[in-house]
Amino acid sequence: METLDVTQIEPRLKHPVIFEKFDSLSGGGAFVIHNDHDPKPLYYQMVAERGETFDWEYLEEGPEIWEVKISKHNPKREPLTIGELVTEDFRKAEVFSKYGLDFCCGGAKSLKEACEEKGINEKEVEAALTEVESQAKNRQQDFNSWDLDFLADYILNIHHKYVKESVTMLYEVSGKVASVHGENHPEVIRIASLFETIAKELDMHMQKEETILFPYIKKLAVAKRETTRMEPAPFGSVENPIRMMEAEHVAVGGSFDEINRLSNGYASPEDACSSYRALYAKLDEFEQDLHQHIHLENNILFPKAIQLEKELLG
Ligand SMILES: [Fe+2]
Ligand SMILES: [Fe+2]
Repeated sequence: METLDVTQIEPRLKHPVIFEKFDSLSGGGAFVIHNDHDPKPLYYQMVAERGETFDWEYLEEGPEIWEVKISKHNPKREPLTIGELVTEDFRKAEVFSKYGLDFCCGGAKSLKEACEEKGINEKEVEAALTEVESQAKNRQQDFNSWDLDFLADYILNIHHKYVKESVTMLYEVSGKVASVHGENHPEVIRIASLFETIAKELDMHMQKEETILFPYIKKLAVAKRETTRMEPAPFGSVENPIRMMEAEHVAVGGSFDEINRLSNGYASPEDACSSYRALYAKLDEFEQDLHQHIHLENNILFPKAIQLEKELLG
């Protein structure tokens, strides 16, 4: 991002230069101003003259240097279509299904159009969508404060269960799509084979977590809560299995990156049949779930388990 060093500009030209720079930005663009005092007067002048068309974000606030990122808002966009809403947040698919709104083949309509066509109250659907958004946020904020045995159970009951339930369908459909469309779209053959490997690796990976690592982490959490004695694990420090799990996450994540690339971010081609489209939608969902799953393990469960083990066993 471009930085404008305001200290180098002649005083009476400072504001005009910044305004000129801002006016030349297109929507969504931004630049940084670098200054030796708080540019608050500029902020007020911009509010007065450009209204609510920009964001003002301090990157550095003195005492010697002030840096502010000024971004220009995007002009009002067309409302997203229901297909785009689902792409943005797959949990919204559940809301649309509940109201019988077709987000796959009929996904090019706006929420308003789709509701009118079905004679459904748009406000009610909007409220349900907002509800989904807020649930997601609340849950995300909570993970970090959960006891580790609760978090481990959550990962098992939500993410491991999801993987096990989805793998059979994905395995079958990817094979079918590869045999029907492989000639015209060779990438689906590679995708089917990558998914087969991922499914096998995840199966073994989750077994290790479920039988060795997670039971031990749960014991740590109970020992901490009930202040009971904790025996050292047969595998030495918990860092050993964790290192192995993290390496496996990298491997599976890498294969999924490749699927994502090959499928062009899960964009079905024009001639794709409904199985093909369903496969890409499900792979997309699966990848998002996997990201959340690995995030909870790598960024919350594992580092906290290492810390807790040190605390209890020294
Ligand atoms: Fe896991
Ligand atoms: Fe894992």
